[in-house]
Amino acid sequence: MRTLRTVAELRRHVRSSRAAGRTIALVPTMGALHAGHLSLIAAARAGHDEVVVSLFVNPTQFNDAGDLDAYPRTERDDAAAAAGAGADILFAPPVDEVYPDGFSTQVRIGGPLTERLEGAHRGAAHFHGVATVVTKLLNMVQPDTAIFGAKDAQQVLVIQRLVRDLDIPVRIEVGPTIREPDGLARSSRNVRLSADDRRRAVAIPEALDAALLAFADGEQDADRLRAAVEHRLLAEGLDPEYVALVDPRTLSDRVAVDSASLLAVAVPVGPVRLIDNVVLDPD
Ligand code: PAJ
Repeated sequence: MRTLRTVAELRRHVRSSRAAGRTIALVPTMGALHAGHLSLIAAARAGHDEVVVSLFVNPTQFNDAGDLDAYPRTERDDAAAAAGAGADILFAPPVDEVYPDGFSTQVRIGGPLTERLEGAHRGAAHFHGVATVVTKLLNMVQPDTAIFGAKDAQQVLVIQRLVRDLDIPVRIEVGPTIREPDGLARSSRNVRLSADDRRRAVAIPEALDAALLAFADGEQDADRLRAAVEHRLLAEGLDPEYVALVDPRTLSDRVAVDSASLLAVAVPVGPVRLIDNVVLDPD
């Protein structure tokens, strides 16, 4: 695996791969790679000739400077892990390679996809930052496929929207949420949990499971399903920012789960804000 730092080097590499008729998959990441990222890299490897992993802690999508500063940076370990999972190229540019002096363009997606859930709590600017950097990465690599994780369900919707709206010729693939043995969704932010907070955090997947169980027992009422989630979280002293039961394509609220619905939560645990989701599907 080679590590590349400039757009010019990346383009040279991509051009020669294309000329040789090789298919390319891109897995965008902010590093601190864990089993969730590695599952996406493995999926990319399985379906393509060439796998590019980007590692860029994108400053424009952080609404909180403290979170940006505290974001784990472990490039050496990431390079080894990405290579082990089958990456051919690690693209790890410095900030001024992505945002050179005078940078002034933004990709902004309007409406509920950026305004609801994460958008309501972190600000829509978070998704404008994601949309801008993902558009740039897609332009730089011009992959056949780009792969994202279902853990960030709203991010997937935003990216699918932008690819359709801007006619970007790429296939968006979605990989399932990878979890710790006790159910907590893998996240680069988990390493910042104290031992005690780590124990409490397991209430998040347990709360989602409680809703899945109630749903399997015939409960379809959105308020009661959300209450089951809140109840489990509060029992652990966790106060969610939101517990939302929404249409998985538009993010509009559901009153009842009479068709597939996304149950999404954001929960501060100590200094860390964790998100997770499951799909409730009557079919
Ligand atoms: P990051 O948080 O590093 O995540 C990179 C990719 O890994 C995203 O597609 C995310 O959904 C996926 N991922 C994270 N945790 C996962 C898990 N437990 N199981 C499966 N997939 C998981 O998301 C970003 O970076 C950034 O917003 C980015 C898209 C790179 C743009 O800067």
